Amino acid sequence: MNFGHFNPVNKEYVITRPDTPAPWCNYLGSVDYGAIISNNATGYSFVKSGAAGRIIRFRLNSMSNDQPGRYIYIRDNADGDYWSGSWQPVCKSIDSYKSECRHGTAYTIISSSYKDIETRTLYYVPLDKNYEVWNIRIKNSSNNKRHLSIYGTAEFTNHDHYENDTVNLQYSQFISKTYFKDNHILQVINENGSEASSDVEGTSNKKGDPIYRFFGLAGQSVSAFDGERDMFIGNYRNYGNPVAVELGKCSNTVAYNGNSFGALQTDIELNPGEETEMTFLLGAGNEDFARNIISKYDSVEKANICSCEGFCNFSEVVSHELTQLKNFWHSRLDNLQVETPDDNFNNMLNVWNAYQCFITFFWSRAASFQYCGLRNGLGYRDTVQDIQGIIHLDYKAAKERLWLMLSGQVLNGGGLPLVKFDHKPGQEATPDESQYAKETGQSFYRADDALWLFPTVITYIKESGDWNFIDEKVPYADKGEATVYAHLKQAIQFNLDRQGSHGLPVGLFADWNDCLRLGSKGESLFVTFQLYYALKIFKEFATKKDALADIEWAQNCLNELSGNIQKFAWEGDQFVRGFTEDGYTIGSKSNSEASLWLNPQVWSVISGAADEKTAKTVLDKVYDNLNTKYGAMLFYPAFREYGLPVARMSLFNAGTKENAGIFSQPQGWVILAETIIGNGNRAYEYFTEINPAAMNDHAEIRKLEPYIHGQATEGIDTLNHGRSHVHWLTGTASTVMVSMVYGILGLQPEYNGIKINPCIPSGWKNFKMNKVFRNTVLNITVDNSQGVEKGVHYITVNGKRIDGCYISADELKDTNEILVVMGK
Ligand code: NOJ
Repeated sequence: MNFGHFNPVNKEYVITRPDTPAPWCNYLGSVDYGAIISNNATGYSFVKSGAAGRIIRFRLNSMSNDQPGRYIYIRDNADGDYWSGSWQPVCKSIDSYKSECRHGTAYTIISSSYKDIETRTLYYVPLDKNYEVWNIRIKNSSNNKRHLSIYGTAEFTNHDHYENDTVNLQYSQFISKTYFKDNHILQVINENGSEASSDVEGTSNKKGDPIYRFFGLAGQSVSAFDGERDMFIGNYRNYGNPVAVELGKCSNTVAYNGNSFGALQTDIELNPGEETEMTFLLGAGNEDFARNIISKYDSVEKANICSCEGFCNFSEVVSHELTQLKNFWHSRLDNLQVETPDDNFNNMLNVWNAYQCFITFFWSRAASFQYCGLRNGLGYRDTVQDIQGIIHLDYKAAKERLWLMLSGQVLNGGGLPLVKFDHKPGQEATPDESQYAKETGQSFYRADDALWLFPTVITYIKESGDWNFIDEKVPYADKGEATVYAHLKQAIQFNLDRQGSHGLPVGLFADWNDCLRLGSKGESLFVTFQLYYALKIFKEFATKKDALADIEWAQNCLNELSGNIQKFAWEGDQFVRGFTEDGYTIGSKSNSEASLWLNPQVWSVISGAADEKTAKTVLDKVYDNLNTKYGAMLFYPAFREYGLPVARMSLFNAGTKENAGIFSQPQGWVILAETIIGNGNRAYEYFTEINPAAMNDHAEIRKLEPYIHGQATEGIDTLNHGRSHVHWLTGTASTVMVSMVYGILGLQPEYNGIKINPCIPSGWKNFKMNKVFRNTVLNITVDNSQGVEKGVHYITVNGKRIDGCYISADELKDTNEILVVMGK
């Protein structure tokens, strides 16, 4: 069953039926002002933090339809019938009510058509601004003059901290009020606030000044308003049948000790064929700020910029802002565009997976329809991995964030579990101090956190050519500063200093797997392979720097580690997952449950620790035992009986998430591992199994948005094999992107050039890639008429033939025509 399709030209996903199996969402805004919106206009907004800067409400997990949202009602005053510009909340029968939602790059357009009235609402946050725009155009397509009332609504939070607003009602309801100011509702929280009475617990406003928000109308005059939610909705009613709309008149009351609200009514007349436009504006700011913003949108002079047909012109200011937004996003996405024989691959790589990588990069795991925003900072491992997903598209932004994360590394080499949004390098408490736990709720190091720096740093350096980065000085989180090179060495030292009885690194509070608590003695094979990989990368850097002592040190560590892996962790055809403190082997083939784990097998290949034969053996074992039609399970069989104390995933239902579910993030690693050993067909098979776009016509199974990855898909042991969960904010975006770009497409920048070494399905006979590489344009055509999976015979660069797959940067002009001929 399908609910929509991709529009690659506009870089949009078009939802053609509103009753999607879950809210299908999009993100608007920037790190200063964020917003999430569904295909039915539900969602919320916040300044800087989803937890501490919440502007409008959203009730997570509310019955069948997550509410509320940015609702605009339309009432026909001739007969009192009313509906909404998005299908929710009034939910007219979809036989007579038609709607379409176009999610684009940081904007969403929702259209409706009912009783010959057409509406088109464009939602966006202007670039670098801290308010949002809901621009609605209304057209009378009937032969009669129509008398309509339009109501825009926004349910303000009473307190900007999510928890206080939701549960601390004896307080939050009595600090908020609204005023009506001609063209807007002004909400004030803590109107009598001062530094002395400052509510520092939750609010983003530590000085105790009043907090102002506004909901305004431009382009039409307000005929009535409601500043109090319950006056607009009415008792024992809901958003589907608000009394104000039913009666055709807002009550003109404001909030005082209730629920602040913005409802603005305007009454309009439209002749046959006539259109009109108005703009609702929502944001944080006082009366002057609000008036200033609203006046900007009062003019309705038209410009036509939209490439779609018909009813789609915007006023000049709106069209200008929409163009700016598209330019911002498309200029980044256009740094790599491909045309392969698989449209589902193209739609993900060119637009949606790339866009999701930026969203996870910006918002980490802060705010979605599952995360309410209370994780008020950047998770170390997640963020360092998120960076990898955008390096090929925006290495400058990647560098800035990488610098921040290096400055979140503690002098002892470990990463801060959470780098706070107000992180102060050099002045932070560490997990060894109670202060840190008090501030973040986190009191333990994770074993893997700082090890993620290695693939990210090397990818950044090679994509940008910025080798000098290795010698840049960056502060540690707590004290002191060092070069990036020294930070990396210290990260390795952190794990060398924490080893167990088999001479392998311990797992601490988690080792990527949040449910594996191996502690300070239990050992992790995942971290072992990460450490192996880190040492190899460090040795490569040391070699480039001619640091002989470091080369020798890294090589000795590698030898020792590799010896211990062989001796203790290899079972002839698979690696074990780890050892508990009291000597139990996790992931041994003799175990009755969880006897084969995915990650140690694929990481033995990615890290280079497995030789060719071993790599093939373990990947075959994974394919034969863990693969399903929706991707590879994290391990199998699920934990059901055995209460292994360190394996907290046994709390999850069998087949779910970390308990033998198809965890999405590692799917990128399986694909990458298969490309490393040259299995293009199998890499592509895995990719297709988990490609959201490939499930576009099976939305009834996958449920989640078909244009983004979710955190996990249900495994074979559940009642809903194939159903995906936890949309948008997942490390899957970056791991799958990495596997596509560097693995399948084989676009592998080097210090002084680039390798193009695809590993593709043998059925791809030719494809094209357009990549911006350090300010040069590479127009690449790949010829695979021999139908191989991997292997480049020769390349021509601007007509000049080069054997093998490496192009030196010296060969490149501003624009380059490159032919890659695959084959033996
Ligand atoms: C989700 C977390 O965000 C990620 O960091 C972790 O690695 C996975 N869960 C696996 O447990």
